[in-house]
Amino acid sequence: MNPEVFTMRMRSVVLSVLFCVAAATLAAVGVVAAQAPAAGRGAAPAPAARVHGNLAQVMRGILYPASNVIFSAQSTDPATVKPDGDPSTSPNPLSSSYGGWEAVENAGIALAEAANLLSIPGRVCLSGKPAPSQNADWQKWVGELRAAGMAAYKAGQAKSQDAVLEAADLVSVACSNCHDKYREVPGGVAARCQ
Ligand code: HEC
Repeated sequence: MNPEVFTMRMRSVVLSVLFCVAAATLAAVGVVAAQAPAAGRGAAPAPAARVHGNLAQVMRGILYPASNVIFSAQSTDPATVKPDGDPSTSPNPLSSSYGGWEAVENAGIALAEAANLLSIPGRVCLSGKPAPSQNADWQKWVGELRAAGMAAYKAGQAKSQDAVLEAADLVSVACSNCHDKYREVPGGVAARCQ
């Protein structure tokens, strides 16, 4: 074979081997990319909600302080609450930087959002029993809590004492309906949530 033809043939063999290696590498990268989570490709999966506290802790940490802001507006016009000396560090929502009627709005939102926390699976009561979030009556009272929270939010927006009185009633009915069945039970703490 003419050495020049031989060289050309070798060159095309080398090129086609290189081509195959490149194609195989691309294919492998493609497979890895397809298996990798969709992060950075637009459709990241929504992070799952996670449970961090038992039911009593959620009640004491979120529902109790938020509802007290709304209940206090029944007797004290939030607009008359004086901001603290340094409102940005106030532990009292009504006298904080987001105080007065805005604190009522935010407390309403806290209760409506808390309805979501009472609906996610995995929460446990002090009794060790799971919070009965699958029960129809539980879901009904969680719905009442959500509606009561949004009524308080609207009362805060409207800066209306009449509306906040109505919203506070809705809030206290929503709390006590559920407590009557699942909290205030004969047998005490150990018998809750069943
Ligand atoms: C859908 C049901 C439900 C709703 C609505 C609800 N709660 Fe509760 N709450 C419970 C249950 C059940 C317990 C008992 C928790 C436990 O033992 O772990 C509880 C416990 C509590 C506790 C703690 C009691 C303790 O033993 O220390 C407080 C405070 C509380 N709730 C406040 C509220 C307030 C305020 C509202 C309304 C704004 C409310 N809850 C709405 C079911 C509910």
